[in-house]
Amino acid sequence: MAGPVTPLSPAELAPSDKALVPFVSVDNMMRLIHHVGIEPMLRELAGYIEDDFRRWELFDKTPRVASHSDVGVIELMPTSDGEAYGFKYVNGHPKNTREGLQTVTAFGLLADVYTGYPVLLTEMTLLTAMRTAATSAMAAKYLAPKGARCMAMIGNGAQAEFQTLAMKALLGIDTVRLFDIDARATEKVARNLAGSGLTVVSCASAEEAIEGAQILTTCTADKQNATILTDNMVGAGVHINAIGGDCPGKTELHRDIVARAEMFLEYPEQTRIEGELQQMPEDHPFTELWQVVSGTAPGRRDAQQVTLFDSVGFAIEDFSALRFVRDRIRGTAYYADLDLLADPDDPRDLFGMLMRSG
Ligand SMILES: NC(=O)c1ccc[n+]([C@@H]2O[C@H](COP(=O)([O-])OP(=O)(O)OC[C@H]3O[C@@H](n4cnc5c(N)ncnc54)[C@H](O)[C@@H]3O)[C@@H](O)[C@H]2O)c1
Repeated sequence: MAGPVTPLSPAELAPSDKALVPFVSVDNMMRLIHHVGIEPMLRELAGYIEDDFRRWELFDKTPRVASHSDVGVIELMPTSDGEAYGFKYVNGHPKNTREGLQTVTAFGLLADVYTGYPVLLTEMTLLTAMRTAATSAMAAKYLAPKGARCMAMIGNGAQAEFQTLAMKALLGIDTVRLFDIDARATEKVARNLAGSGLTVVSCASAEEAIEGAQILTTCTADKQNATILTDNMVGAGVHINAIGGDCPGKTELHRDIVARAEMFLEYPEQTRIEGELQQMPEDHPFTELWQVVSGTAPGRRDAQQVTLFDSVGFAIEDFSALRFVRDRIRGTAYYADLDLLADPDDPRDLFGMLMRSG
């Protein structure tokens, strides 16, 4: 027979420190980004990502877990370095913008491996745009031709300004040439980048956008194999930063470009499913970017080479971004304590805690 239940006092009802998980809302993420500064934060994030690429081998790695539908994909992206564990929830729905919604939204969590307790829950829609751009620029540092100053930005959606500013912050790009099949998207980027210090040129075609550009970024969204760049458009010595091909049956480059370019990628097991690499035979050569970053493989070797970063986005980049946020919010007001974890005084008396709260 159950005995009388003593109700908890207000002090006892208040969650203990262990129950509280720092939560970074979209509002607080925007404050944090402005506090650090967009370009300084892109540089700092690139540093965190680079550090984690250097210790690539010690991470748990798996292709992301994808749930596909006719209209999009929902994915979970987990990894761990043995001390911390992180995952991101992210979607990709190219039709969403027509319905007033974003193509990509995300949130993520970092946990302590020793206790298994979460230590951070955060929005990651903005953070994904920042980390994707930082990763692109980090890769371009090793792969773009020396002295690159002009980039083409094809696909002028949510990621575009971030991609452009990261190339400015890390490589010193001073000119961006924009193209999108929707002129309103190009107008939006041109408006947002006015005052950034960049020369912004709006173009009427992809051919026009790549004129004189040493870095060609493709960041389009379509749920099919598209041909954003054809072989004849790609001259010697350029670096292609291919961001938008990141799902089975969703690519951006003509196969002949992929065949001719020197390919660099994140995690082969995932890129084979999702990247431009899905167009190529099993034995197609590539270099893993972490090897370039850690100095065990060369990046760009000469001025004539066409380099291709076949980016799909990998969990370790999100882990780095989560580490950055955990470190940077300490001692600030850019988070709220979220009562996320049940924390009974007697760890085995979860039921008693429930009954005393009634
Ligand atoms: N590699 C990564 O790590 C990573 C990270 C985030 C997003 N992505 C991918 O990047 C892509 C862009 O994401 P977003 O959030 O900017 O999407 P978005 O929907 O906001 O923007 C995509 C833009 O591409 C344009 N577009 C579509 N087809 C085009 C074409 N043939 N030529 C020129 N422009 C075209 C659209 O008009 C739109 O403005 C998506 O496919 C997304 O899945 C990749």
